[in-house]
Amino acid sequence: MIAYDAPVKYLSLFSGAGGLEGASASPLACCEIDPDCHAVLARRFPRAALHADVRELKPPRADVVAGGWPCQDLSVAGLRRGLAGERSGLFFELLRVAREAGAHTVIAENVPNLLALHGGTAFRLVLEALAADGFAYVAWRVLDARAFGLPHQRRRVFLVASRHYELARALHRPLPGFDQVDAPACAAFYWTAGIQSICYSQGFVPALKVGSSLSIPSPPALVFDGVVRKARADECLRLQGFEPGDFVGVKAAAQYRMAGNAVAVPVGRFAFGSLDGAAAPDGVAGKAGPAGIFAGGEVRRVEHPVPALANTLGALIDRDDRSMLSPRAANGLLTRLARSGKPCPPELRALLLAAGGL
Ligand SMILES: C[S@@+](CC[C@H](N)C(=O)[O-])C[C@H]1O[C@@H](n2cnc3c(N)ncnc32)[C@H](O)[C@@H]1O
Repeated sequence: MIAYDAPVKYLSLFSGAGGLEGASASPLACCEIDPDCHAVLARRFPRAALHADVRELKPPRADVVAGGWPCQDLSVAGLRRGLAGERSGLFFELLRVAREAGAHTVIAENVPNLLALHGGTAFRLVLEALAADGFAYVAWRVLDARAFGLPHQRRRVFLVASRHYELARALHRPLPGFDQVDAPACAAFYWTAGIQSICYSQGFVPALKVGSSLSIPSPPALVFDGVVRKARADECLRLQGFEPGDFVGVKAAAQYRMAGNAVAVPVGRFAFGSLDGAAAPDGVAGKAGPAGIFAGGEVRRVEHPVPALANTLGALIDRDDRSMLSPRAANGLLTRLARSGKPCPPELRALLLAAGGL
């Protein structure tokens, strides 16, 4: 069993704004190709060396390599090229860096569709590639930011792949839980949808998105106290567990993009906490599922209790900001809803009409 009496030495790849990081340790180096992220990373991890393209990284020795590699070729919304895709194929760079750094553990993250893509063959490839490089034990678990007290539905699959069984298995320890504080009513939805579902959600926001390929932000809209407006960038950052003060000086479009790309901070810390090797279940032989463990070439399912989920959006937002959705945006949404026949809650319809729609 590994016991850490000094902060773990780790490398952060695909660092983004730094959501998949340890609670107490700072990375030795961060690797991120988006220059807007570097200002945030430098502020949050002043001792970390900053690198750009992972394909050029010559890593120093490290115990752990962590990274949420790009998901565009894996997600339901994309073309689903899988690990053969140019961007999601960067998984193999994560593996190369871990090998060259001599790491004993890899902590990784991606969209849950990784588990289902191509009938499960893409995920099997991930498990076997990790095992072939010596990370013989791989635990995975789909975690939702709402289960960590953030009113943001963000489900992602986390992997802990290790040479040490206890470290991988510890991903399956109980969740820390959170206080469900009383919050005034607030709903959220995708104001740019309407052809597809607007995902109207009471008490939480649907998953933050990165925005369009032209980097035009498309945050969810909020509905409270007779107001319907777009969530601000600082609110999106807080919905991911970041401190907006760490993003001062970064343009709003980049803040939205980073929030839409990131791992929610408490969820990333939970995945990192597996390095403590806490006791956890071993799994049931012969079945895969949203949580499991791979050992000795065999996939086993792990069962977890259904967690409580945060509904506290009304307490997180700035209720004094009563700016409204523009008439053009309100109009566009009402028109798309009318064409598609998708449902629109009556209170929202009334607000969109008040905002100048139709
Ligand atoms: C899913 S996001 C990870 C976000 C990060 N975990 C966070 O919490 O903010 C993937 C990141 O990989 C970065 N990226 C894409 N290609 C890269 C490359 N060749 N080298 C380094 N970073 C890259 C993207 O800019 C993006 O920020």
